[in-house]
Amino acid sequence: MKHFIYDIPTKVYFGENQLGHLGAEISRLGKKVLVTYGGGSIKKTGLYGQVMAELQKSGLEIFEFSGIEPNPKVTSVNAGAEICKKENIDVLLAVGGGSVIDCTKAIGAAAYYEGDAWDLVIKKAPVDKCIPVVSILTLSATGSEMDANAVISNPETHDKIGLKSPVMVPKVSFLDPTVTYTVNKYQTACGAADILSHIMEVYFNMEQDLYMLDRTMEGIMKTVIKYAPIALAEPENYEARANLMWASSWAINGFLKGGRTLGWSCHPMEHQLSAYYDITHGLGLAILTPRWLDYILDENNVSKLYDFGTHVFEIDKNLPAMAVAKQSIEMLSDFFFKTLELQSTLTEIGIDETHFEMMAKKICGDGTLTGFKPLTQQDVVNIFKMCL
Ligand code: NZQ
Ligand code: ZN
Repeated sequence: MKHFIYDIPTKVYFGENQLGHLGAEISRLGKKVLVTYGGGSIKKTGLYGQVMAELQKSGLEIFEFSGIEPNPKVTSVNAGAEICKKENIDVLLAVGGGSVIDCTKAIGAAAYYEGDAWDLVIKKAPVDKCIPVVSILTLSATGSEMDANAVISNPETHDKIGLKSPVMVPKVSFLDPTVTYTVNKYQTACGAADILSHIMEVYFNMEQDLYMLDRTMEGIMKTVIKYAPIALAEPENYEARANLMWASSWAINGFLKGGRTLGWSCHPMEHQLSAYYDITHGLGLAILTPRWLDYILDENNVSKLYDFGTHVFEIDKNLPAMAVAKQSIEMLSDFFFKTLELQSTLTEIGIDETHFEMMAKKICGDGTLTGFKPLTQQDVVNIFKMCL
């Protein structure tokens, strides 16, 4: 194992009826709290009322910022940061899915910056300070509740870019699986695809000495494959929702990465699809991932797909490695498109090849997309075309 730093500083309250700790946790961080949320699901589910009651009980001064959109826009970041500056906000409370939490992290960073928040996203200016963020997760998918990332979109430039800084990691996250009972089938399925992809982006490499992490990743992938269909069939199955929620957090909080340094492959491609077409992140990943694996599979990396197939999908170990690899890709496709009932092509969701060249250029820059297998611009276009 190469050297690495393990530092996951988020305090987690997991399970039902933990909101009683919310007021005390926020009070530790300050007096003036800005509650951020999305398009109103938290009002429909009743969570909004519970959160407000807890904050009021603790005598906190409450401000609100709502309407954060899926694939959050930089305009929302700027608007939220304005409130923070004007009201001298001490602490941010994000109540929502990855979009709300991401946007809130970026708001916390932009509050210390005089200028357009987009400068931070494109790394024109550094992020070295952030108003403390507390999150109440409502959708199991992105891992934003326990990581340092915020992915922000700019529709004017067709960009969707990840911003990362340790100062943005949530200080405290409340993970109550019952809050995700109201997540619909489609978002549950997209969330499962996202969790799987976070693991696969790290799992697929040829380093041999990370046995402990490889087996752990296979265990979490099996968890998602076991429980996502149960959550679809029985939205209020606590065991399923709880396993998905904890898998979401641990898929991307840094633990699984160990010392691995390889770049990611499907996420950069998906972020371009979302940037141009505003599609749901997990859906884009589901469409791309089996095609990407199919495209890059060769004699040099077949052993890794053999491990994936035999350990995750329990394919017969006695079959030839290439046969196992191909079968594992088919089983992954079936999981996404038959079991989770996600749309299987870009064509079905209204995407054609108009922007493929431009997207590939943005992804690869002047070089290649480094990852499990380096991809040139032409490779990326070919993979996009396989998804049509
Ligand atoms: O906006 P509201 O009304 O809350 O509705 C949301 C939204 O419409 C709804 N929803 C959330 N919780 C619900 C619920 N509906 C009913 N009941 C609940 N309990 O679900 C819809 C989608 O929400 P969103 O937050 O957009 O989904 P997700 O959590 O998948 O976040 C996606 C965003 O995160 C980024 C993605 O690119 C995308 O922008 N990512 C962030 C990452 C990170 N921070 O590390 C990593 C990921 O790879 C990803 O890129
Ligand atoms: Zn993702």
